[in-house]
Amino acid sequence: MIITIDGPAASGKGTLASALSKLYKYAYFDTGMIYRAVGLKAVLEGIDLTDEPKVLEIAKAMTFEKMMALSSHPDFRSDIGGQSASKVSAITSVRAALLKMQQDFALSPVFADGTKAEGVIYDGRDTGTVVCPQADIKLFMVASPEVRAMRRFKEFQAKGIETTYEKVFEDMKARDKRDSERQTAPMKPAVDAIIIDTSDMDPKAEIDYVVSLIESKLK
Ligand code: DC
Repeated sequence: MIITIDGPAASGKGTLASALSKLYKYAYFDTGMIYRAVGLKAVLEGIDLTDEPKVLEIAKAMTFEKMMALSSHPDFRSDIGGQSASKVSAITSVRAALLKMQQDFALSPVFADGTKAEGVIYDGRDTGTVVCPQADIKLFMVASPEVRAMRRFKEFQAKGIETTYEKVFEDMKARDKRDSERQTAPMKPAVDAIIIDTSDMDPKAEIDYVVSLIESKLK
């Protein structure tokens, strides 16, 4: 079983993906992590994010192990990590270099401890359109920019990251624009994706709804 969950930042992809992976005991691949790892490594090395050959070199050398090591850096989940990921992910050659690593995961999905999983949940912006067009269930999560910015602002506050709602809102709009206007794999729902608007949805109702979709698919 392959489930893809696409959509913009703070649309609820991650929360839903991790709830489903626990419920069904499927492996979970947060594909944004590889773009964050490449972007952050470039920032830490002082590389200009528009310097394609240098960023591509980092992407080609990226592995799961390196990605996991970078994920504990304080800026991995901060706005620096998000913006740098968004910038490097707009480079076509970088996306191509990172595609196989994402696609291979579906061939033999494993949990973090290396044990085999019967299915996989992909979370990202192009997982239903490019990474796994063969997925059994494709979801595309949406929510208004205001709701998403408020969710992200609260997450930053909880982590002690200093920022303002206005800054988070502006950064989110810039990231949405870049992610949806880039030439390769722009953020858009797959033609066969189910669109779920989480703006006014309570997380439990959202999970119950998706579980009912999966159950009918499994029958
Ligand atoms: O989901 P996230 O916020 O961790 O993603 C960070 C950036 O990575 C996002 O702005 C765009 C890029 N990304 C992408 O282009 N394709 C994906 N499948 C996942 C993320």
